[in-house]
Order: sequence, then C-alpha cells, then structure tokens
Amino acid sequence: MSKDLNIPDSPTPGPPAGEIWPRPLETPAAETRTQNVIEAFHRHFDGAPTHLAAAPGRVNLIGEHTDYNDGFVLPVALHRDIRVALRPRDDDTVRTYSLEYGEWFAFKLSQPEFNRRLLWSNYVQGMAWSLQEAGLRLRGMDAVISGNVPRGSGLSSSAALEVAVAKALLAAAGLDDALENVALAKAAQRAENQFVGVNCGIMDQFISVLAQKSHALLIDCRSLEYELIPFPTKAALVIGNTKASRSLAGSAYNERRRQCEEGVAILQKVMPRGHEVRALRDVSWEELEAHQSDLPELIYQRCRHVVTENERVHKTVAALQRGDMVSVGLYMERSHASLRDDYAVSSPALDAMVEAMLNAPGCFGARLTGAGFGGCAVALVQPGQEQAVADAIYAQYPKSAQIWPEVYTTQPGPGASITRLDQG
Ligand code: GLA
Repeated sequence: MSKDLNIPDSPTPGPPAGEIWPRPLETPAAETRTQNVIEAFHRHFDGAPTHLAAAPGRVNLIGEHTDYNDGFVLPVALHRDIRVALRPRDDDTVRTYSLEYGEWFAFKLSQPEFNRRLLWSNYVQGMAWSLQEAGLRLRGMDAVISGNVPRGSGLSSSAALEVAVAKALLAAAGLDDALENVALAKAAQRAENQFVGVNCGIMDQFISVLAQKSHALLIDCRSLEYELIPFPTKAALVIGNTKASRSLAGSAYNERRRQCEEGVAILQKVMPRGHEVRALRDVSWEELEAHQSDLPELIYQRCRHVVTENERVHKTVAALQRGDMVSVGLYMERSHASLRDDYAVSSPALDAMVEAMLNAPGCFGARLTGAGFGGCAVALVQPGQEQAVADAIYAQYPKSAQIWPEVYTTQPGPGASITRLDQG
C-alpha cells in the first residue's frame, strides 16, 4: 500500500507520546465541558455568564456534494459541539475569548471587519454581520467560546461555531425567537459565504440548527423541507480522522461547483423544451445517460456523481427505514467509489481509511464524509463493534497512510440550544 501512496519506506507511525494505544473512543463529558466554559467565563470576565449556547458539528451519512446542486443530504449531528458562555453588554461591543486558541478578539457590532490573523474571529464577526443584515438589532456581549469538534477535519466545526455564536448573539439581544430555525441556518450559511468567503452549501448549518437526538435528517436542499429519520438501534457510527492535510479543499471545492454549473448550462440547452433544469437535481440518471455525448467527459463524470448520489440518498433512507443495514452499507461504499472516481474528491489517506474500516469486523459500509480531500471517513457498524473497528483502523491505517489517525464514535445528537443559566 505505501507504494501506491508514493511514500518512502519509513517506520510506521505510532501514537503520539503519552497517548494510550488504542486511543479510547469518545466519551461525551457534557457536564464537565459546560462547567469548564462557565469557569473560564468567571476567570476572564468579572462575574457570571447569563446564558450558554451550544451547537454541534456533524457527520454526513450520505449525500455528498449534492447540497449546492439543490439535492438531498442525510447528516446526523455529533455529540461534539461548540459552547459559548455569554453575558449581554449595554453597548455594541462584542468581546470574545477562545479557550482552545487562548486568544482574545473584540469588535464593534457596527464595524465587523475580516481579520487575516485570527481566522476564528471571522465566524463570530460574520455571524454578527449576517444577523444585522437580516434586520436584527443586536447588542454587545462578553463571551467565552470552547469546542471539541475537531477543526479542519470535515466535521463542520465552522458551522457549529457560526450557529453557537448566532444563538449567543440572539440571546444577548433578547431576540431568542426572532428567527425561526431554517432562517437561522440560512443566516449562518450567509455568514460563511459572504463574510468568511467560503462558498459552502446549506447542509452543515442546517443540521447544526435542526438536528434531533437519535435521528438523521433528510434535507431537501432546494425547498429546505426536511424529515427526521430515526437512526436504527441496530447500527452505530465510527468516525476515522485521517489527520491528512486538506490544503486543496477550498479551491477544489469551488472548482467542483463550477463544473456542476457548467454541466447544468449544457444540459439546459440540449434537454427537451419544457423540461426545466435549474440544477443537477432536475436531471435523472436516464436523462444524463441520454446526453452523455453532449457533455465533456470530465463534466459528465461530475454530473454522474451528483445524479447517482441523490438516488443513493433516497435508497439509503428507504433501507434505514426497513432496518436493512447491509444495503445502507452498500450505498455508502458506492458513494465513496463515486466520490473517488467520478467526483475526484477522495485522497490516498481517505481511501486507506475507508479500506481499513471495510476490513474491520462488523462494518456494514464506509465512505468519506464532508467535502473530502482529507478529513474524515464514517463507518456504519454493528453496535458493540465500535472498539473492534477502532482497533482495526489503528492497526491498518498507519501502515498504509503513514499517519497516526484519530477515531471517534458518536450517536446522533441534538441540534443547537440556548440555556438560561441559574443566577442563584
Ligand atoms: C462541505 C460544505 C457542505 C457540503 C459538503 C459536501 O461540508 O460545507 O455544504 O457541500 O462539503 O457535501
């Protein structure tokens, strides 16, 4: 395998010094984390916070690179989230302290400004900008931010930060109910698209706001209608973080978007009149096949991924509903193959991770999750087999990829929340 990856022979990497091998799987310590962020607030600001906002990261079961094609996605929220302990201020200053970065950032609500040095601050400022663009009158706040969603790993730490900050800013202004959930998700997406400058779809913000415990969410990314799909008790999730760099992610993501638009532009010209094609969502596999020769090969492949992936989402939902985990696993594998071969967003490390997962005992199926190019893969496994799957990943992946991974397990968790803290 290391030959395929073009990596010189070197000893297989082991766990970082001091780390237990295999690394224990995630045990969510919700109360401790809440306590930590509240204590940090006391240390950094005088007095107690009034509210705690929380918003989760996500893992997408299937439906990748379909959201910006008006298609379908099926994410679940993680039991990992971003928390914000906050207290309103009487002026229009927002003072924030990031616990993990150990950094301060303050700005005036009337003057948010992109900051090249403290990149995390742009999600906070962008959210304030976006909520004000939506016509809301915000107030300043003091806030401590803390999170345990792995950063830059395809688990939507940015969406979690945006949504947690949105909840915090709304609470500080006494506007908790001013935006309904879908509008809140859209405001968070706008912050990322227009302030941070990442042209993402709606999936990550949507699931972070609207997730429910023990459910996946089938989202129609055109109508923004959604359906809660009970997550079967016959299955569990294991997430393998390749820890491989995702340097290409931004530029290649935007390139894929452009390629899809190019496909749509051609199909609009060649499809029969009366058949409106606004996005790849409007094209069936049969129609795409019929027009294959009208499309450049590369564009055809990109379109084929999106069109078949939309179909796989529906088939996966049906299989989940009838408790057929073997079929769900199969669709996940096909999704990965399509992302690798047609959409070209996998990487040697992701392929090695998926292979290690598929070889593990009790694994129904596995695929890359999120934008790709690095980051994480997700496996659907038999409950009780999580540790065995993690062991198999730790045993196989470092040999193939020459990188030490991280493995997490999660149950589908709840969406964002805001809690008033007891002042007593
Ligand atoms: C990133 C984006 C999402 C989605 C996925 C790919 O996570 O933020 O909107 O496009 O990539 O499915």
